[in-house]
Amino acid sequence: MKLWGGRFTKPTNQLVEEYTASIQFDKKLAQYDIQGSLAHVKMLKACGIIPVQDADRISDGLQKVAASIENGEAALQQEYEDIHMNVEKLLINEIGTVGGKLHTGRSRNDQVALDMRLYLRDTVADLIRLLTEVQASLCKQAEANLDTVLPGYTHLQRAQPVLFAHHMLAYVFMFQRDAERLKDSFKRINKLPLGAGALAGTTFSIDREYVAKELHFDGICENSLDAVSDRDFVVEFLSDASLIAMHLSRMSEELVQWSSAEFNFIELDDAFCTGSSMMPQKKNPDVPELVRGKTGRVYGHLHGMLTMLKGLPLAYNKDMQEDKEGMLDAAETLRGALALFAPMIETMHVKKESMYQAVRADYSNATDLADYLTAKGMPFRHSHETVGRIVLHCINHHNYLQDLTLDEFQTFSDLIEEDIFDALDPETIVNARRSTGGTARQSVEEQLTKAEAMLKDN
Ligand code: ARG
Repeated sequence: MKLWGGRFTKPTNQLVEEYTASIQFDKKLAQYDIQGSLAHVKMLKACGIIPVQDADRISDGLQKVAASIENGEAALQQEYEDIHMNVEKLLINEIGTVGGKLHTGRSRNDQVALDMRLYLRDTVADLIRLLTEVQASLCKQAEANLDTVLPGYTHLQRAQPVLFAHHMLAYVFMFQRDAERLKDSFKRINKLPLGAGALAGTTFSIDREYVAKELHFDGICENSLDAVSDRDFVVEFLSDASLIAMHLSRMSEELVQWSSAEFNFIELDDAFCTGSSMMPQKKNPDVPELVRGKTGRVYGHLHGMLTMLKGLPLAYNKDMQEDKEGMLDAAETLRGALALFAPMIETMHVKKESMYQAVRADYSNATDLADYLTAKGMPFRHSHETVGRIVLHCINHHNYLQDLTLDEFQTFSDLIEEDIFDALDPETIVNARRSTGGTARQSVEEQLTKAEAMLKDN
């Protein structure tokens, strides 16, 4: 017999039962569902809505149900559709018909909204912790590479030399925005929808503030129609998740490129790579590749969620059952990626020498030659043009700026003197960019200090 079976004259069609059930995935919310029910029954007792002994039996029963779900003994059944009705059924099996009093003044509509908020509250905290671990591993690499110079790129063309520490810290600040966004979303997640009933509130004299306090919510959803219809907090989570996935994917792309023989800038630890079934020499960066690949599913969940909601009238509609799989999958996908990223970055081998060779063999010191001429009085536009001609000359003669002799330099401009060779050295170039946020060691050390202080507050 269904919990709502009274009005029906026939059993549910088997295909309908399969199609409408959500227990296969919302069972992941079991502990939150029971946590919410325990607070609800405590309130029913405190408000004198159900007798004390009944409330106590229900609480005890719920604890037993929680344990039996936890250890896998409880049989969760499709016949009971979702986690809410499965828990209620298990409770009634455990303590008898008195279990039927649990749902007093409550609907699955406000109950499911509560479960989602409780789940996301924990998830957001967990993701912030995992992000912070990734940031900490990036800071460690930064610390170890305060003198590692590599080409910085724009358009994937070598642009100007930068410190590897600087590059690592760019991701630290990027992930910080992600952590801040998650923190900010917490205040919108952390409102209690329970007490909204199915849509209109309830005739019982419940105390919503009591439940809010019991479950550590910062407040209650003020309007019952909004409380059961609102999934903005899920959209917001998926949007935050999409940005995290995008950031992880950008970094993954760099790790994949840097691991190639063409770049040869890093080597990921063996423990974080896999091989080929056919080509014995292969060591593939599967982890960053998959992280990059899984970005699509996170974006997909965001788009799916927005589309699912866009045509829904108030209040609850069954369409909204589709809110869960994407949220759960996005959270799991990010947990998996972030948990791997921290140790993978920490153990990654940075090929300092190879990075340095790359900087030596390019024209990324051209801006500094132009700045050199400009500092000696040549208008920058003229310096730019002059250096362009020097670069072209070098390309035609298969050498680099620092390979020219002073005489050769002076055929382009007699402003160039012996000190040019120091001015073109990659380390001089890096350390000249002392502006706040720049790539000079001093500026990078300041960034690192700020980043480390920031992580303490995450
Ligand atoms: N399993 C449902 C969901 O996830 C719970 C709410 C069902 N409410 C209803 N009136 N059918 O959305």
